[in-house]
Amino acid sequence: MTLLVGSDPALADALGAAGPVLVDVGCGDGRHTVRWAQRRPDALVVGLDAETTRLEKTLASVRKKRLRVLFVGAAAERPPEPLRGRAAEIAVVMPWGSLLDGVLGGDPAVLRAVLALGGPGATLEAVVNVRPWDAPDSVDRKLAATPEPTDEHLAGLVEAYAGLGWELRPDGWLTDAEARALGSTWASRVVSARASRLLRLRATGPR
Ligand SMILES: C[S@@+](CC[C@H](N)C(=O)[O-])C[C@H]1O[C@@H](n2cnc3c(N)ncnc32)[C@H](O)[C@@H]1O
Repeated sequence: MTLLVGSDPALADALGAAGPVLVDVGCGDGRHTVRWAQRRPDALVVGLDAETTRLEKTLASVRKKRLRVLFVGAAAERPPEPLRGRAAEIAVVMPWGSLLDGVLGGDPAVLRAVLALGGPGATLEAVVNVRPWDAPDSVDRKLAATPEPTDEHLAGLVEAYAGLGWELRPDGWLTDAEARALGSTWASRVVSARASRLLRLRATGPR
């Protein structure tokens, strides 16, 4: 039961028996999720993504290495009920589409749903690729609608998080080495292609 659909009752059972739960939202092929689980054997790591067709290799390695990882197929806007309020830590690595609109754009429906995954005092760490404004010729369609993270935009985003009870701290740019160390397929790809400027956002939820 390493891969579940969001409505599967086995998820509530697994979460009930777990200690700390870490949720990787928009986990993609799950490489970053697995890296996280290797670093945190004390925790159950849940990879959540609307699209779960790229997980095949990762599922095989999770089973072989007996890691405490579960993947759940669901949109961030409609996460499975048992996950709500359950995460001690939330990661969002290299989001695109509506997930990027939520964590960097401040889209209230998506942001509210992502932050609602957190339990008391939960933390969120997001790494977003903001390269397109520097390189208009290489604008990725899925990143194109996202606002440029100017100081003014980030100040508004701090307010949007604060409105949901979260304290947001934009935390600067990742070096190439830091980006590669994430274990994220997308981060490694954009660093290799020199098509990246990766901004880290950290946030802490209400106690
Ligand atoms: C560029 S990929 C990054 C995947 C992975 N985090 C990584 O670093 O390799 C962006 C991922 O976000 C997921 N995503 C985008 N919007 C989403 C949403 N609203 N709910 C769930 N997943 C979403 C996509 O399906 C995709 O897998």
